[in-house]
Amino acid sequence: MATLKIFVGTMYGGALDVAEQVKPLFEEAGYHVDIFEQPTLDDLVAEPPALALFCVSTTGSGDYPGNLVPFTRALIDQSPSLGELRYGLVALGDSSYGDTFCGAGRALDALLADLGAQRVGERLEVDAMETFMADDAALPWAEAWIAEHGLQVA
Ligand SMILES: Cc1cc2nc3c(=O)[nH]c(=O)nc-3n(C[C@H](O)[C@H](O)[C@H](O)COP(=O)(O)O)c2cc1C
Repeated sequence: MATLKIFVGTMYGGALDVAEQVKPLFEEAGYHVDIFEQPTLDDLVAEPPALALFCVSTTGSGDYPGNLVPFTRALIDQSPSLGELRYGLVALGDSSYGDTFCGAGRALDALLADLGAQRVGERLEVDAMETFMADDAALPWAEAWIAEHGLQVA
């Protein structure tokens, strides 16, 4: 069975909520889904998934949430070749932070691209100024993402 791995970066749980809410959509599309709340680089590279989804909020001033720091630090330090990786990315942020809006999601997206990974479709950016519950934006995005890019495996 194809596996979808969801990697979460969160401070207050919103990005984890997104991961848990979209999980059934991917199960219906034929995937076995694993959610990583304390992700390590090994979770990504030891058994590479058919597809990965990153659900990542931003803290500080455009910074990665603490639970994601070991993962991003390992990506930078070890520079694994990710040419086989296909992924999607949901960034949570707040536009009142100005220039650092969705800074962590954007930085991770750039880092993955540098390592050769292929993003499927566009990144979703959820603005807390407009969307109180990130799921409200992420669920329709995930449905469309699966349908528009032919990601069903069942
Ligand atoms: C201390 C703090 C710093 C933040 N810094 C940023 C930021 O630099 N850029 C941004 O887009 N959002 C920023 N945010 C907003 C969060 O990313 C946003 O509220 C997000 O939905 C939180 O998701 P989470 O529940 O998964 O942690 C910040 C929020 C807090 C509380």
